[in-house]
Amino acid sequence: MKPHRLSAFVLASILLSFVRLPAAGLDGVWRLDDPKPWGVKLHTFISLHTKDGALTGGVYPNGSGEIPIRSAREEAGETVFAMDWGWTFHVRPEGENLRVKVVYGDGKTSAGLAVPATAAELQPPVAIPLPAERVLPDNGLARTPPMGWNSWNHFAENVDERVVRETADAMVKSGMAAAGYVYINIDDTWEAGRDAKGEILTNSKFGDMKALADYVHSKGLKLGIYSSPGPLTCGGYTGSFGHEEQDARTYARWGIDYLKYDWCSAGRVYPNALLRAGYQKMGEALLSSGRPIVYSLCEYGMGDVWTWGPLVSGNLWRTTGDISDNWASMDHIGFNQGALAPFAGPGHWNDPDMLEVGNGGMTPTEYRTHFSLWCLLSAPLMAGNDLRTMSDETRDILSNREVIALDQDPLGREATRAFARGGIEVFTKPLVDGSVAVGVFNRNASDTPASFSWVDAGLTRRAVGIRDLWRHLDLPVSEGFAGTLPGHSCVILRVKPVGIIR
Ligand code: GLA
Repeated sequence: MKPHRLSAFVLASILLSFVRLPAAGLDGVWRLDDPKPWGVKLHTFISLHTKDGALTGGVYPNGSGEIPIRSAREEAGETVFAMDWGWTFHVRPEGENLRVKVVYGDGKTSAGLAVPATAAELQPPVAIPLPAERVLPDNGLARTPPMGWNSWNHFAENVDERVVRETADAMVKSGMAAAGYVYINIDDTWEAGRDAKGEILTNSKFGDMKALADYVHSKGLKLGIYSSPGPLTCGGYTGSFGHEEQDARTYARWGIDYLKYDWCSAGRVYPNALLRAGYQKMGEALLSSGRPIVYSLCEYGMGDVWTWGPLVSGNLWRTTGDISDNWASMDHIGFNQGALAPFAGPGHWNDPDMLEVGNGGMTPTEYRTHFSLWCLLSAPLMAGNDLRTMSDETRDILSNREVIALDQDPLGREATRAFARGGIEVFTKPLVDGSVAVGVFNRNASDTPASFSWVDAGLTRRAVGIRDLWRHLDLPVSEGFAGTLPGHSCVILRVKPVGIIR
């Protein structure tokens, strides 16, 4: 037995020497530059530590906090490590530098040579004291949920001045402006650092923000912009940290009408206990900017933002992480908002994120459900598709005035779930004229029958008129609903009740 045991030990040692981690020369902080054609250079930092045969550390993409390494292995002369977000890094020392290839969750890749950096470069700046919490006045804007378009969901970093102008044109030409859409909002990636006086600069995608605002205004529309309370935005561009008042004045001078303010790297500078103070600082700056600017808080629902959003003069606040253009993401977000209904009302709205209608990842039926649900939830209606090339079907979904009227109802009451049974969910939303919007949703992928009385749905008065808002049809008056809903579809009704049900 002895020789056998020994040979097993030798074999194991040989094998271990092959898979041993980590390779020499990986230790340290590395900077991978990502120069953009519009004159901005983004940086990802990689921090690697090897000890006792294990690789630890993480990646700091575009100024974010550390995304830790989850697992590592040696493969074909490279060290391969996996991280959250579904990213995999392949690295190999090359002279003084580190050869890096990144494989993203969607299979796309990027590659480059990371150079040695210092641990100090990883450190976020020292926090600047924030104002003591106080209650700011209501800015008087967004009496109904804001409607418009935002560049992020479809264009991400590929937004530029031309896209914005053409989108404004398309907003008018498609009839969406006439249906109530107003804001043309530029999301992240317009920024390019600051000048010697600290003034925020636009990168070469945006030549003249004031001229762009003038153009958008000439179409009867309004222009929105994006920033962060942190030093960097989520995309790694310049944020408003330490320049809040100055930026608010700049926005006002340019003619900006809407600011989406995204926490991002502020999370590396301030603890979550200072979320409210961080948002208050920009709220104060906007109020004293001399221009009415809708204030959109984007911090993914942290710190129960719905309880203090209005107190920092916020008009809307994101309640969740980012939406993606697929049913699972939309379903997960849309059907989990009900408990927040009491916090919505004229001037201040829950924001379950922007629309994906028309972006291609869902069927027309699913997009009708997405749009209907957002309208019942009194959500801001920010189209997130390419308005210049959208199909008639997409335009018709986004422009259904009878469904939009539910979202824009002046009473401003967000729908609540009346009941959920076997994948059928029914939502009701009281409207200013005494009618009740009733949304019947099938969350199942297959046909599902639904049958309930108006009393089951919580209506306390008899129905005297029922209108189907997608078929644009008045239906015979009934005591309730009965029908079979195709998978992922919905029926949206406006029920006009009168008299008490006994
Ligand atoms: C965050 C926000 C998104 C978008 C991007 C831009 O992820 O939640 O809506 O603004 O940042 O970088």
